[in-house]
Amino acid sequence: MLDIFDPRTFARGIPHDALRTLRDTEPVSWQHEPEIGIWPAGPGFWAVTRYDDVRHVLRAPADFSSALGATQIRDPDPADLPFIRRMILNMDPPEQVRLRRLVTGAFTRRRLERFAAAVRARAVALLDAVAGRPFDLPREVTDDFPLQNLADLLGVPAADRALLLHWTNRVIGYQDPEHAEVATDAAGRPVNPRSPAQLADMFDYAAALAARKRAEPADDVMTALCHAEVDGQRLTDAELKMFFFLLVVAGNDTVRSALPGGVLALLGNPEAERRMRGDPALLGTAIEEMLRVHPPVLTFRRTVARPAELGGRQLAPGDKVVVYHVSAHYDERRFPDPFRFDPAREPNEHLAFGQGPHLCLGAAFARLQMREFLTELLTRPPLHLDGEPRRLTSNFINGITSLPVRW
Ligand code: HEM
Repeated sequence: MLDIFDPRTFARGIPHDALRTLRDTEPVSWQHEPEIGIWPAGPGFWAVTRYDDVRHVLRAPADFSSALGATQIRDPDPADLPFIRRMILNMDPPEQVRLRRLVTGAFTRRRLERFAAAVRARAVALLDAVAGRPFDLPREVTDDFPLQNLADLLGVPAADRALLLHWTNRVIGYQDPEHAEVATDAAGRPVNPRSPAQLADMFDYAAALAARKRAEPADDVMTALCHAEVDGQRLTDAELKMFFFLLVVAGNDTVRSALPGGVLALLGNPEAERRMRGDPALLGTAIEEMLRVHPPVLTFRRTVARPAELGGRQLAPGDKVVVYHVSAHYDERRFPDPFRFDPAREPNEHLAFGQGPHLCLGAAFARLQMREFLTELLTRPPLHLDGEPRRLTSNFINGITSLPVRW
């Protein structure tokens, strides 16, 4: 059996050979979930590796539920499930649709574009600070960038930004010894970082921020969420806090992965970079191609809600299903010559932002940040690799923790 579960595998690199073999021979394959380190074993899951199947699963929430077992590979503590299901990510239609109508209005293009100048100024300042010397791209530039942009978008004061970083590391980086802030219970077992008890400080903060935005409205997303109203309905305080939590984790590590992922693609394809420098209009398609070759989210989980057939397999209610975006993006059945980085690739219907009802709400803001950062980067001398990149130990986020470069 080819293992594509172990988070340590992804720290060494994307297991492209194994994924290709699975696509060709066993597109829906059973994966074991053995105990790893301090993390207990799980029941196992179906791994979905072909583009068409991944897309189908994401578009069929009545068959493949986000609510039944939530959306992370590791099963949540059953006691925490009702709480976790209050997050839009872990809902199914029609509840998800109701909430989505309430929050969508906060992310209008007009509001997002208002942040473009600040995003560009931040890229300039961060790149100026490393001009003319070797540096580590994630640690010195791209880790801070999305965090500060997100804080701006949400209306979080600059003094509180470190809190955002702390929370996102606690929730996302927990499989990686370097980033983990794993709390343990009295018996030394890890406590799920997404359990309510672990998040109390963040929820208190969200409640206080909402109170401030109600008193002093501003042109930011938190203010918009506090005042959002559709058909006479508003977000409850609990929904608002949960949504803040989701934005903090969803809007940070993803862009933090996308930027070094994109730069790595340029480093490996100097010819493509030369083309982009000569033709700035290529940036739009190049960004989509970066998200295809380096999808910031490797996988997402669903749970079978009613008997279903997929890739010739019979799936039973309760089975765990994990879709591999990172495999779908290299599926030769969909993308000609998938290992080639083509900055002009069209069509390019990648699944980096998901598909179906949960399609990423922050996609426009993510693209805006990539656009501003890369536009600024390409006004400067080309970068060269200056050491071994290091990757995050995670089967969820396609993280690059170190990328030494020189001008
Ligand atoms: C390159 C960066 C990003 C990537 C690759 C990404 C990826 C994704 C994916 C794959 C989903 C769907 C999850 C599923 O199928 O269950 C999603 C949902 C979501 N994303 Fe993003 N995301 C990015 C940036 C952002 C940003 C910047 C924000 C907020 C400012 C954000 C907010 C959200 C929210 C709120 C959802 C949930 C939508 C729902 O459940 O209806 N994302 N994202």
